[in-house]
Amino acid sequence: MNTNLSSSVPSQLETDCLVVVVLDRSEKDQSEKDQSKKDKPAPSLESSDDAVREAARDVISSGEVTGKPFETTLLHRPAGLKAKRLLLVGGGKAKTFSAAELRKLAGAAVRTLKSKSIRSFAFVVPETAIPSSQGLRAIVEGAFVGNFDPGYYKSDRNEKDQKIDALTIVVHGDAHDAKAMESAMQTGRIVAESQNFTRDLVNEPSNRMTPTMMAERAKKMAAEVGLNCETYGADKIKQLKMGAFWGVAQGSDEPPALIVLRYDPVGAADKIHLGLVGKAVTFDTGGISIKPADGMEKMKYDMAGGATMIGVMRAIAMLKPKVKVTAIICATENMPSGKAQKPGDVQIAMSGKSIEIINTDAEGRLVLADGLCYARQLGCTHLVDAATLTGAVVVALGYANAGVFANDDAMYERLEKAQAKAGEKMWRLPLDDEYKENIRSNIADMVNSGGRWGGAINAAMFLKEFAEDTPWIHLDIAGTAWMEEQKPWIAKGPSGIALRSLVEFVKSFAS
Ligand code: BES
Ligand code: MN
Ligand code: ZN
Repeated sequence: MNTNLSSSVPSQLETDCLVVVVLDRSEKDQSEKDQSKKDKPAPSLESSDDAVREAARDVISSGEVTGKPFETTLLHRPAGLKAKRLLLVGGGKAKTFSAAELRKLAGAAVRTLKSKSIRSFAFVVPETAIPSSQGLRAIVEGAFVGNFDPGYYKSDRNEKDQKIDALTIVVHGDAHDAKAMESAMQTGRIVAESQNFTRDLVNEPSNRMTPTMMAERAKKMAAEVGLNCETYGADKIKQLKMGAFWGVAQGSDEPPALIVLRYDPVGAADKIHLGLVGKAVTFDTGGISIKPADGMEKMKYDMAGGATMIGVMRAIAMLKPKVKVTAIICATENMPSGKAQKPGDVQIAMSGKSIEIINTDAEGRLVLADGLCYARQLGCTHLVDAATLTGAVVVALGYANAGVFANDDAMYERLEKAQAKAGEKMWRLPLDDEYKENIRSNIADMVNSGGRWGGAINAAMFLKEFAEDTPWIHLDIAGTAWMEEQKPWIAKGPSGIALRSLVEFVKSFAS
């Protein structure tokens, strides 16, 4: 999708469709107190261009337009405008309207218009409290995210090719700084295209995204953006004594891959080295503790954590913040076979700790244990991991929030800021010592499954043993990496969750 900026008056812009936000200005308690429509303030059109206001006047005064979230009203040949169409999109309450809502509205506009075979449109940056550059970036991000659809293997070209080709963003009065605007647009584009890059990887089925193929994709991307990428196979995993990772990989005929991406810019501070560790189980059958058939096909997205870290590295390589970052992605299948590990087996992790395998389906924490240990060995001073780790996090938080765990409050606060800026939802869960009992083993240092109660926490407690004293954050994205239903702003399928937050998080360390 091409993106360009325009500072022309919206009504004078020639476009297939001009998109303007409409906000609901009514106060909640007011509408409760008096039901009469008369006193309710009219929804406000977020453009000061009189011609646009005039074109929308009748439909707004009719009461048909309320400004409620994602309400769309399409007018053809709007009087007085050069645009062929005028699309009004509801943004909800004016009081709570923020960049996060705007991002979604841009996605909703893209999805509404592309389904009508429209290929290009212009979005007017709302004249609200959101600073222009921030609004602009949110619109670009939302539009790219909305433009993604997962129908890669559909043979019907019509369905496949429904995409917006060109987006014009119409900036208003306070947007004097053309350079800042251009840079906000580029940043939004890089971040959202990286998010879609991740979604592409996650969308692939396991026969088209083996660990080896994932390593190849990482290599190709790295060459394109100028990152250092090394990929290793079983030999290196054994040589590093990654017994936990290998315990999972040993059951599959597909070779595992250890993917290491390095970003080391000149001018970065010596004392900060971020390590991004990703779970990339390209298919999780559960192993010998095999999963039920119902829904097992979804376990192709069990590599989403790794795909997220690869996407973050793409964005970082292009945005060039001055901070050293290394990503470690542990890619393998989890299969039952004659060579597979069995419940009761004991594996010795790279760190030297012994693990009694109670359940071979708790494999993600095993590959991450060695990934975290390796990151520390490479000198990482701060760690973040992302993984579709537990069904229990879905029970706890549903599909709306990713689970966050941290062994360090300052790290958590940094992530919280980044996540708010990125417009993503995450919720912190505890890591109290009380939970440690759940992973106690009779014969080894720990078991790999702490049972059902507090399952997401037990998994995080396990990982904590391998982060040791390094400040660390764990993101459990099992409930959020895949959209179970489509939303107005995003397709059903891979979401690319956490990428935008992590890019902001990394940038926050830049010198
Ligand atoms: N990959 C799954 C977790 C998962 C569940 C991801 C649902 C996405 C959607 C993970 O490897 C797993 O199987 N976890 C087990 C752990 C249990 C055996 C302790 C689980 O959550 O049931
Ligand atoms: Mn599993
Ligand atoms: Zn898994």
